[in-house]
Amino acid sequence: MVLPLPLVPLPASAIVGEGRMPVTESMRVIGDSPAAIQLMDAVAHRTGIRLTTTDVAEPGAITLRVESGAAPTEGYRLSIGENLQIVGGDEAGLFYGVQTLVQLLTEESGVWSLPRVEIVDAPRFPRRGVMLDVTRHFFDVAEVKRFIDETSALKYNHLHLHLSDDQGWRIQIDSWPKLTELSSASAADGDRGGFYTKDEYREIVAYAAARHMIVIPEIDLPGHTHAIGVAYPDLVEEPVLNDALVSQAKELGQPLPVKGEPYLGWGVGHSSVRIHEERTYEFVRDVIRELVELTPGPYIHIGGDESLGTPQADFDLFAERATAIVVEEGKIPVAWHEMGSAAGIAEGTVGQYWGMTTPSETHAAEAARFVERGGALIVSAADAAYLDMKYTPDFPLGLTWAAVVDVQRAYSWDPVAVLDVPDSAILGIEAPLWSETTRTYADVEQLVFPRAAALAEVAWSPQEGEGRDWESFRGRIASLAPGWRARGVNFHASPEIDWASPEIDWASPEIDWASPEIDGVEQ
Ligand code: ACM
Repeated sequence: MVLPLPLVPLPASAIVGEGRMPVTESMRVIGDSPAAIQLMDAVAHRTGIRLTTTDVAEPGAITLRVESGAAPTEGYRLSIGENLQIVGGDEAGLFYGVQTLVQLLTEESGVWSLPRVEIVDAPRFPRRGVMLDVTRHFFDVAEVKRFIDETSALKYNHLHLHLSDDQGWRIQIDSWPKLTELSSASAADGDRGGFYTKDEYREIVAYAAARHMIVIPEIDLPGHTHAIGVAYPDLVEEPVLNDALVSQAKELGQPLPVKGEPYLGWGVGHSSVRIHEERTYEFVRDVIRELVELTPGPYIHIGGDESLGTPQADFDLFAERATAIVVEEGKIPVAWHEMGSAAGIAEGTVGQYWGMTTPSETHAAEAARFVERGGALIVSAADAAYLDMKYTPDFPLGLTWAAVVDVQRAYSWDPVAVLDVPDSAILGIEAPLWSETTRTYADVEQLVFPRAAALAEVAWSPQEGEGRDWESFRGRIASLAPGWRARGVNFHASPEIDWASPEIDWASPEIDWASPEIDGVEQ
């Protein structure tokens, strides 16, 4: 098969011309956008070629500019002919044009070059999210930045950080200092925990913003709250043990939750804050107020999933009060779809659907409630978009409760076909990485890549159209491997993909052949 353009996600339209443009140190970059610096850094990192800037138009220069109206929101036009020009409809569009350009760079016999091409591109969905669970295992600021680098390069634009769960509390809250003093040190399996100070968290938010990613902080309530009770026992109920939790703990050899002691297992559904205590809502308001101060983006996620130990009427009461608090503090609430059980959930709340691609009636009705209340939906169908599912039944990392999700399965679904709501109610997708089994950041990368690339195409590229199919994707995704290897990304070389296709320059000296974690590739 002839390799089409080595791009993931597939652009909305591309016309390929004859010949190639060599990339050399003598090329100048014109443009004062931050994207110009990002382009020069990325080219230097990928090729070793150090481009410089100029103010003067000259033949063969790379021009970067923003022109409102030249492309839709987040869209861009990339033209490589005699000259090279990227025009963004906005700064984000320019940034995405730069990501496309970097993917187009290829090397042959020591010469780096670009194809002559005209690309006009813009995203299918405004919401292209990834989630990192930093509670079951903790990932430090440098690791989160790496996650942002690699996902923003795939044109993701939201980073949801799951900051609290039964196993730990991960963000400094000044008004409730024991949360980090007493509930942050441990993680699942007795591994090391951690938390972000406010300055560290601001650093993450700023780093993401520079790459056009909005950070959505999540405090998971009213369940998934065992860690809150380690710091403040009066805020939570006694653990409620369900049969599944008890049998899973036995099977995995994990401890059961004990109130006031750090919880090191993986079980869910046993914890709840006290719904009928006013102090609970003082806590919720304080935490949300402090998160709002750290959050330039419009959203605060308040969880709502798997509150199995909370009676339904109590859960619904909590959902109504907690979403109202987020609105009163000036943000748009986001909640897992279960909160759609509450008739009075705050208007405009965004639901995050995490059921299957074929929903149960209950899940579908809960998701639809958000739309009835003037909100919208993010689709995180667990049997397609969950990055913590195993690729194969015997894959060493990940879980299987939703499905075994190989790369083709992650690629082959349509977010608007899952729920019976108007297409306009679907903001887009989010691909969550839950971290029960990922004890290191290298483990995270194994599960995330290449599936995050498959899901990026689901979120960005038109559903119909030439090249938007698995066979084309298989060819294009392989061409991302040299860049991932050059940057040390520990992706899973799934045997579904012909990573050693002849179009890929396997002899590149930047490839870290010694990496022992890269499996499935002939080295
Ligand atoms: C979830 O997977 N509990 C949202």
